[in-house]
Amino acid sequence: MRTPLIAGNWKMNLLRDEARSLSEAIAATAKEADGVEVLLCPPFPLLDTVRRTIDAGPVALGAQNVHNEPSGAFTGEVSAAMLADTGCEYVIVGHSERRQYFGETDATVRHKANAALEAGLTPIICVGETLDEREDGSTPKVVERQISGALERLKPEDVRRIVIAYEPVWAIGTGKTATPETAQEVHALIRGWLKREYGGAIADTIRILYGGSMKPANAEELLAERDIDGGLVGGASLKADDFSAIIRAAL
Ligand code: 13P
Repeated sequence: MRTPLIAGNWKMNLLRDEARSLSEAIAATAKEADGVEVLLCPPFPLLDTVRRTIDAGPVALGAQNVHNEPSGAFTGEVSAAMLADTGCEYVIVGHSERRQYFGETDATVRHKANAALEAGLTPIICVGETLDEREDGSTPKVVERQISGALERLKPEDVRRIVIAYEPVWAIGTGKTATPETAQEVHALIRGWLKREYGGAIADTIRILYGGSMKPANAEELLAERDIDGGLVGGASLKADDFSAIIRAAL
């Protein structure tokens, strides 16, 4: 079956000392959480600090963004090979904050996912509707467009390696969580789409994470849903106790 994945997206937060103590605490929790995969996604300058702290333990390292080109004159950008070389196994692509503030489109997300896969990284592809889209009933259409846009032209053997994160934009950083039923409905829709496109064997392998105000108080009921295979946690991943409680909720 699918191993639950609990990922912390630190976004643009923390300095080195804070990163060190937070990742030490999470490494200790992860050691006691056999059967749950734990992932930390700090900002670029903290990747090496976190890598040294979690060294040889069960916690995996990921980045929050990547450029789609392998190298060249792209001032300020970071390639997938650089991330792999720094010890990353994962990279988040297409987060709604990247789509909203940095103009990323489904095509950008596809190119980034492709670059990640080519460098041996697992892309965590984020999708999710805005409040307006939810209210006018277009959630299924929006989510399917984002998934098909991101996966179009990927080889089935590559699709098998991806992780998807469903993050309703209205639930991110707002304290409003999707109910387990609402989240499960969209997760099932995503898995159904994957099944139609790639078959049951691949669809059943892919982990679909929920993100959007996940916290200790709601993690267990969300993670109990059949198609919710973990969480992509923002705010609560910055607090050792809260993130540890979410990891334990996945056990
Ligand atoms: P919050 O958990 O702070 O709502 O953020 C979710 C998120 O965007 C994770 O990528």
